[in-house]
Amino acid sequence: MISKEIEEALNQQINKEIYSAYLYQSMSAHTAFLGLKGFANWFAIQVQEELSHAQKIYDYVNDQGGKVKLMAIEQPPSEFESPLDMFEKTLEHEKFVTKSINELVDLAIKENDYATQIFLQWFITEQIEEESNDNDIISKLKFIGKDGNGLLMLDKELGARIFTPPTAVV
Ligand code: FEO
Repeated sequence: MISKEIEEALNQQINKEIYSAYLYQSMSAHTAFLGLKGFANWFAIQVQEELSHAQKIYDYVNDQGGKVKLMAIEQPPSEFESPLDMFEKTLEHEKFVTKSINELVDLAIKENDYATQIFLQWFITEQIEEESNDNDIISKLKFIGKDGNGLLMLDKELGARIFTPPTAVV
């Protein structure tokens, strides 16, 4: 059983995860338009990851006898200056998501809701990985600069990314 306050916060988090998917879908579309198929693949895999995060919270709310409430999804940006700009915006967005997860943990601690605290641990670890991945790619893009060959090599690397469904927790 979860409180109404936790239920509302988890529903907000579902919305943020689905918005994340929408944002990365927009980045995937933009990089596909530029002909960077590897970047487009990386963002498309990110979309699947974000939807799986939303589903994980959706299932948890249901399992805890709560009511899932879906909300409107904000329109994402569709124009970006460069691949570096996209990854800097990605990192910025992930930091926002990390803050949101941390606030959820704070609320669960305040309410002595141990199950939700345990459930959210997976997301805390996931956010470390997400921010680390973005930082790695930002470093590479800064190193590459305006070198077209370097960008194409990175495009090939990002094209190899595959989706690994998250393992069940709780
Ligand atoms: Fe679901 Fe990228 O955080």
